[in-house]
Amino acid sequence: MDKFLIDGGVRLVGEVSASGAKNAALPALAACLLTSEEVLLHRVPRVRDIRTMQSLLVHTGASLVEEGESTVRVHAADIVAAEAPYEVVKTMRASSLVLGPLVARAGKAHVSMPGGCAIGARPINLHMSGLEQLGAVITQSHGYVEASAPNGLKGTNVLFDRITVTGTEDLMMAAVLAKGETILDNAAREPEVVDLANLLLKMGARITGAGTSQIKITGVDRLHGAEHSIIPDRIEAGTFLLAGAITGGDVTVTDCEPEHLGALIAKLRECGCQITEPASGKVRVCASGKLRSVDMKTEEHPGFATDLQAQFMALMTQAEGISFVTETIFENRFMHVLELVRMGANIRVEGRQAIIAGKVHLSSAQVICSDLRASASLVLAALVAEGTTIVDRVYHMDRGYEQIEKKLAGLGASIRRSN
Ligand code: EPZ
Repeated sequence: MDKFLIDGGVRLVGEVSASGAKNAALPALAACLLTSEEVLLHRVPRVRDIRTMQSLLVHTGASLVEEGESTVRVHAADIVAAEAPYEVVKTMRASSLVLGPLVARAGKAHVSMPGGCAIGARPINLHMSGLEQLGAVITQSHGYVEASAPNGLKGTNVLFDRITVTGTEDLMMAAVLAKGETILDNAAREPEVVDLANLLLKMGARITGAGTSQIKITGVDRLHGAEHSIIPDRIEAGTFLLAGAITGGDVTVTDCEPEHLGALIAKLRECGCQITEPASGKVRVCASGKLRSVDMKTEEHPGFATDLQAQFMALMTQAEGISFVTETIFENRFMHVLELVRMGANIRVEGRQAIIAGKVHLSSAQVICSDLRASASLVLAALVAEGTTIVDRVYHMDRGYEQIEKKLAGLGASIRRSN
């Protein structure tokens, strides 16, 4: 299993570019199943979760060609197998994103239920009940969801019990081919939902309100091919800003969308970092002085993203004072805490809140990644820890960060991969 060896203590300086967003590319790839014509996607990050989704599309009968560094050409001329097998879903929960498109296009879907997850229970009940409201008959057996709508889906009003990102995306993709109008209320407002709506609009869908909590969709008979460029990865960009901040560095993230980073930028300013936007698509962090501790609570967009909570906590170990970090989205997203504590962090967890006392001297240790963002948090801590930290099981990081060691090394970090 691959590991990173990181020598701490280097101040990061320079420019690093953001890749396309994994969490926007995943639904975009699933959306390709909605048309028999070719869809050309640009800026698709070459990360493991994307490769998993690509193999799932091939499993359904789609043909897929990778071109250049980040372009993918998908052609789902016929759906041969309207299913997502357990072997795929168990490695990537976002596989449930094909549920809506398959029922909408093929009138049926056989999709494995995701099992437990390191960060929380993460059920897909809201995807299923939404599809039921659109007229699908849903049954569950042998660990699979069987959805069927042989005569097509029918538009309706769906009120989500709680905000769900992929649930909103799944139902939006189902509703674009349903008869009549669908209204999704309490919808997720994440930029990735808007990006998916933009792709679907290019494919001929009729959607208004994406980016607000009410999305209206008027079904059409068929969608056609399209060409689309995926939005920048705000979580990757945020991770680089935090890497600049934690090392007292001067880092500019290029090819990103500052508007998507509002909550993080506000917190970094509160901590005492200087944040500027030197040009369009660029955000620069300068962290020359002392960092102040600040409280933070994760929330749905436009609140502070849960996907940056672990990395922000690493930063708080280097800030003066006490910080309260509250996780409201997932019930078990503090797996990084014990590993950070092994490196010398002073963190106590009480329910959904972590209390971090800083500033502490971090020292190198052998640590293990438990999930994608927890691994990014350990890498950030390692960048300031004294000595050489060994970060084990970096396959978690490879699920969502493209060429992370190359990008960090470009900023001056001493990081190498070994197996
Ligand atoms: C998306 O997951 C992201 N994944 C996650 O990114 C991200 O952490 C999460 O949204 C929250 O922002 C993708 O976009 C592929 P949710 P998703 O449905 O859609 C509960 C990363 O590191 N819920 O918005 O699966 C759920 O348990 C990741 O890149 C139900 O109860 O998250 C959670 O507590 C990991 N029933 C809350 O809602 C449902 O049917 C929000 O989850 C669905 C969700």
